[in-house]
Formats: sequence, C-alpha cells, structure tokens
Amino acid sequence: MPDALPRAPEAAKRGRRAAPPGDRHIFFRHWLRRPLAIGAVLPSGNRVARAMARELSLERHGAVLELGGGTGALTRGLIAAGCPIDRLVVVEREAELADYLARRFAGLRVVCGDACDADALLAAAGIDKLATVVSSLPIKWFPRAAQRAVLDGCFARLGPGGRFVQLTNALASPIPAAELGLAGEEVARIWAHFLPVQIWRYRRHPAADGPC
Ligand SMILES: C[S@@+](CC[C@H](N)C(=O)[O-])C[C@H]1O[C@@H](n2cnc3c(N)ncnc32)[C@H](O)[C@@H]1O
Repeated sequence: MPDALPRAPEAAKRGRRAAPPGDRHIFFRHWLRRPLAIGAVLPSGNRVARAMARELSLERHGAVLELGGGTGALTRGLIAAGCPIDRLVVVEREAELADYLARRFAGLRVVCGDACDADALLAAAGIDKLATVVSSLPIKWFPRAAQRAVLDGCFARLGPGGRFVQLTNALASPIPAAELGLAGEEVARIWAHFLPVQIWRYRRHPAADGPC
C-alpha cells in the first residue's frame, strides 16, 4: 500500500483536488505510444514525491518550476509539502497531460510546451526568477544540445546558488555535469518497485555563477 503524503497546510490544500481516477492508465497509455519521450511506465510514488519536495528552496525568491509534470504525482507532493500553488509553474509537452494537470490542480499554471524551449516559455510567461527547478524529464535521453538548452534556460533565472533537481533511474548522473559547467551530487536514493530512483542536485560552478 502506498504511504500517505504528509497533511498539507490549509493554504496548500486550496486548489488541490483528489487524484482523478485513471491517472496511471493515462500515463501508461502515453508510455506505450512514446516510451523514451515519457521515460517511465508509471507515475512517481508518494515517497519519491516527498523526497523531491525536500529539495525545494522556498526561502528563495521566484517561481518553482516543475519540468515534465505528467499526471501530477510530483506536483501533488510539492503542494502537499507546502509549495503555494500560485508559485508553481509546470511545463509538460504532451497536450493531453497538460490538460489533465490543469483540470486536476485548480489555479496551477501549466505551460504546454517543450522544456528545451525553457528560455522562451519562461519569458512568454513573464517569469524572470526561479527559486528551484524540479525535473523528472527523461533528460538522460536528450541530445547534448537539448540538455544544454533546458539547463541554460533554467540557470539563467535561478541565479547564484540556485539548484536544478533531477529525478532519474540512471544509477549515475543523467547528464555530463562538468561538461555542462555544473557540479552535481546524488542527494537521495529511494527504492520503488524494487528499483532505485535517484535524485540529483545540480548547481552552476561558482565561477560560472558570476558575482553575487
Ligand atoms: C518520467 S515522466 C514524469 C512524470 C511525473 N512528473 C511523475 O514523476 O510521475 C516525464 C514527463 O516529462 C514529459 N516530457 C518529456 N520530454 C519533455 C520535454 N522535452 N518537455 C516537456 N515535457 C517533457 C513527459 O511527457 C512526461 O510526462
């Protein structure tokens, strides 16, 4: 039986609806169509969502960006952990999943688009500062230029000390951190369905961050 998420603060509960039935079904159907583009057979579980939520830096200014929202398993965990829904922006490329997210979480900003266009998408949404980026994109499978586009678009708005947090089952860093000018570390490993899921945290090398 999946363990329950922590009770959400009242403010965080507003705008959150119970998971509609069938989110696993919708997710699985997308995976069948485009397995590498979806990157997982089923949505993340509650323990993974809680571990990702621990990486939020809500004390920093700016929006919290989630990349690859799927059916909202992590979104729900972020909100339950106290991330105000009006600070959260979710980018999801699959139109059906983006619609599903918007219906599931009233008041959530959902951007249907490609995370590789993060810079343009965020500019169009009027977002110039990010507190944290939480990603469950199958970034390991992205071409190098696409990885760079995602990360550059995000780090430009994260500013000094900002973190890009990535979920993976790659058993090693899913991106070549040093080549991309980043320092990365595995910060959590969770066993789900007998397989390890890892959380990697990346920051820009201090030299690349520029003066504070
Ligand atoms: C592994 S699933 C994670 C879904 C959900 N966050 C979870 O943990 O259950 C990855 C999600 O990223 C989305 N995705 C993949 N490539 C993308 C891209 N380039 N831009 C935006 N979303 C993308 C997929 O459609 C899928 O919903």
